[in-house]
Amino acid sequence: MSKNITELLNINYPIIQGGMAWVAESTLAASVSNAGGLGIIAGGAAPIDYLREQIRNCQKFTDRPFGVNVMLMSPNAEDLAKLVIEEGVQVVTTGAGNPGKYADEWKKAGIKIIPVVPSVALAKRMEKYGADAVIAEGTESGGHIGETSTMCLVPQVVDAVKIPVIAAGGIADKRGVKAAFALGACGVQCGTVFLASEEAKIHENFKNLVLKAKDTDSIVTGRFTGHPCRGVKTSFARELLDFERNGGSPEKFEEITVGGLRKAVQDGNLDEGSFLCGAIAGLITEIKPVEEIIKDLFE
Ligand SMILES: Cc1cc2nc3c(=O)[nH]c(=O)nc-3n(C[C@H](O)[C@H](O)[C@H](O)COP(=O)(O)O)c2cc1C
Repeated sequence: MSKNITELLNINYPIIQGGMAWVAESTLAASVSNAGGLGIIAGGAAPIDYLREQIRNCQKFTDRPFGVNVMLMSPNAEDLAKLVIEEGVQVVTTGAGNPGKYADEWKKAGIKIIPVVPSVALAKRMEKYGADAVIAEGTESGGHIGETSTMCLVPQVVDAVKIPVIAAGGIADKRGVKAAFALGACGVQCGTVFLASEEAKIHENFKNLVLKAKDTDSIVTGRFTGHPCRGVKTSFARELLDFERNGGSPEKFEEITVGGLRKAVQDGNLDEGSFLCGAIAGLITEIKPVEEIIKDLFE
């Protein structure tokens, strides 16, 4: 089965590095691609000129395929949808919604479309729109999440669609990869494990939080905004949860958290940063080069 995805994407190992806003830039993406996986540059809400530069840098650092993650609800989505065509990007993964309106143009440009889905219903819709594969992402994942666990979501999506299914959420070692394959996935997408890579350009406070995290150290905030997010249970994250539970307004919550991931990634700001990461962080105890991370997952 994994042949599907390695052939489809022209990669050696059936692994996609998750698009991670502010984290997944050209160095990390190129390192993953050079190590035989599919590196991804995250579009997040970043300015288009910055993303053009990241794509061009990545083209310089690797001659292997890599992709771009488009967050469909982001203000840059429309421009980024055009940019990936102009820059000859080979794969697009999408988050937060339905990429249907871009599908025709991307297909015409020969771009492989791989949406991230939190449900069977969206997976089926994506297949109808011509997606080449889907990433079924469980609630264990870092970042914005759905409600169903990887264990429950992946086999249900596998049964519902004919296109390849890639499992995401809670995979950080060989056992997780085997479990994903046992559930019928033909590849994996990992985010959290790459936070603990030498190549991830994130503040050392962030890396230390990932390394120190125990099994119960991730927390979901923002459910009442409709955009729940999983991250490290810092005191700031606990305060956010209290705010939410004690009648704070969703609008005020958005105001307090805006830019939180950037503050975590670039400044290591423990008072105002959102250190997004998955529930599997407890399994991660050392910083390794990307190449070693990928080998450890598969060999
Ligand atoms: C710091 C961080 C930022 C993320 N940002 C995005 C994003 O911008 N777009 C997206 O589609 N997914 C995003 N994700 C989800 C990842 O792409 C990936 O699917 C997820 O991390 C997989 O689960 P894992 O964390 O258990 O490995 C993010 C995850 C993390 C940890």
